[in-house]
Amino acid sequence: MASLTVNGHSVSVDAEPQTPLLWVLREHLGLTGTKFGCGAGLCGACTVHIDGEASFACQTPLEAAIGKAITTIEGLSPSGEHPLQRAWIAEQAPQCGYCQSGQIMRAAALLSTNPHPTREEIIDGMATNLCRCGTYPRIVRAIERAAREG
Ligand code: FES
Ligand code: FES
Repeated sequence: MASLTVNGHSVSVDAEPQTPLLWVLREHLGLTGTKFGCGAGLCGACTVHIDGEASFACQTPLEAAIGKAITTIEGLSPSGEHPLQRAWIAEQAPQCGYCQSGQIMRAAALLSTNPHPTREEIIDGMATNLCRCGTYPRIVRAIERAAREG
């Protein structure tokens, strides 16, 4: 059994040490807000925070997450009222929505280290996260709004 802290709760998981954290979250813990896109570290759909850093859950083996604080979209704000979540709604950022939890988690990590990024810093910081629907302009506007409105 591996012990993890996920969204502030201690959990025990019975899985092989090499199991990707993404599958632990989705299959073992039922936290399906974190998405499988490419499984290869190329799209960002699986982005979560590990000790506050945006990380690809598909590229993180379970054993590397033991003892770390993991935050998923479900735990970003228990009320769903994180400034980014409010801004995402205000800007109507999603289209199909599939990439968006990863986008928000990446953006949250960006704002935690740089609360008032320039547009270029937002574009650079979000370059790891792809959106097949092309919602990039709305994502940038939502991040700018969250930075402005806090
Ligand atoms: S699913 Fe992890 S980066 Fe694409
Ligand atoms: S909203 Fe559809 S992939 Fe981003």
